[in-house]
Amino acid sequence: MAATTSTTGSPARRVAVYPGSFDPVTCGHLDIIRRAAKQYDHLIVAVLNNTSKKPLFSVDERKQLLADVTQDLPNVSIDSFRDLLVNFLKSKEAHVIVRGIRSVTDFEYELQMASTNHQLDGDIETIFMMTNPKYSYLSSSIVKEIAMFHGNVQDLVPPEVQSALIAKYSEA
Ligand code: PNS
Repeated sequence: MAATTSTTGSPARRVAVYPGSFDPVTCGHLDIIRRAAKQYDHLIVAVLNNTSKKPLFSVDERKQLLADVTQDLPNVSIDSFRDLLVNFLKSKEAHVIVRGIRSVTDFEYELQMASTNHQLDGDIETIFMMTNPKYSYLSSSIVKEIAMFHGNVQDLVPPEVQSALIAKYSEA
């Protein structure tokens, strides 16, 4: 995507990256994706490929679920990264990181991450969006715990993710 130039002469910041584990994507994540997609020309949802964590869904499964639930959003693409987030942004010529904040508990961790990323690359800004209050308690971990005990996650995740969780927990 070609960079546009703002009135100040610097490239307009129209590519944003929404990074995360997305194991799996929840309705809270999807709400942030939809809102952020309205603010930028191109939103890249980037799944961290972290070999030290043991996720429920593989990176490919998480990417596929994200692709499925964002297929109606033409300016959203799905990708993954395995090292520093700022390097991924550089490779995409992006300057904005989008993160959702659910509560004050999230704030300290997010502030630390945003400050670290800014220290690593002073040209990168983190933009915070407040999570929809409807989903302020929601996390991928809570969803997995409910699904593991065969509870109902219908209102917490998109239907594709619900089916994937049911399939995952009936595998064992
Ligand atoms: O969904 P999560 O697990 O809260 O997302 C955390 C994530 C992936 C955004 C963060 O762990 C990350 O960016 N990791 C990549 C490594 C990195 O760049 N670290 C320096 C900034 S803390």
